Amino acid sequence: MINIHDKTFVPFIPNATIEGRISELAALITKDYEDHCPVFLVVLNGAFLFASELVKRVGLSCEITFIRFSSYSKTESTGEVKEIMGLDQDLTDRDVIIIEDIIDTGLTMSALVKKVHALSPKSVEIATLLHKPDALKTPVSMRYTGFEIENKFVVGYGLDYDGIGRNLDCLYVLA
Ligand code: IMP
Repeated sequence: MINIHDKTFVPFIPNATIEGRISELAALITKDYEDHCPVFLVVLNGAFLFASELVKRVGLSCEITFIRFSSYSKTESTGEVKEIMGLDQDLTDRDVIIIEDIIDTGLTMSALVKKVHALSPKSVEIATLLHKPDALKTPVSMRYTGFEIENKFVVGYGLDYDGIGRNLDCLYVLA
């Protein structure tokens, strides 16, 4: 059990389970993109740990670039998607794999997918560590999903509660 700010979180998914699943996703991506050189587009801040564990297991020549969005205030979605740091990579005719920590309402991802499609890529797929199907407010199609979870707030492995918890090496859920 851990306390962050005013809330208590309990252990949810252990590190070995997370990293075992990341290895499986990396193997799928390596197979699916054989003879291709994809661009991984990492959504900061939350996806930094998932992305680093995923890309180092992918046996492909690839490029990695970053974008930063903000859509959350404490533990509730603001419903507003704000871009903070833009795309600076040419994605024309490239196979893009977006790496996200969690798809909750789907608003962030659907805004990002639209933006990426406008840049004329060859293909766009999504790899997300977590997905809360019951929270989805707009359709998002994910090719690679680590874990489908209940609609509960989680921290750890890159995800924070009001700035804290990103460095935890496993996932915790609100008690
Ligand atoms: P969406 O736009 O509602 O899908 O939210 C996407 C972003 O909200 C994610 O990239 C996370 O940064 C944040 N988020 C959503 N659910 C959680 C959670 O359970 N814990 C921490 N952050 C979350």
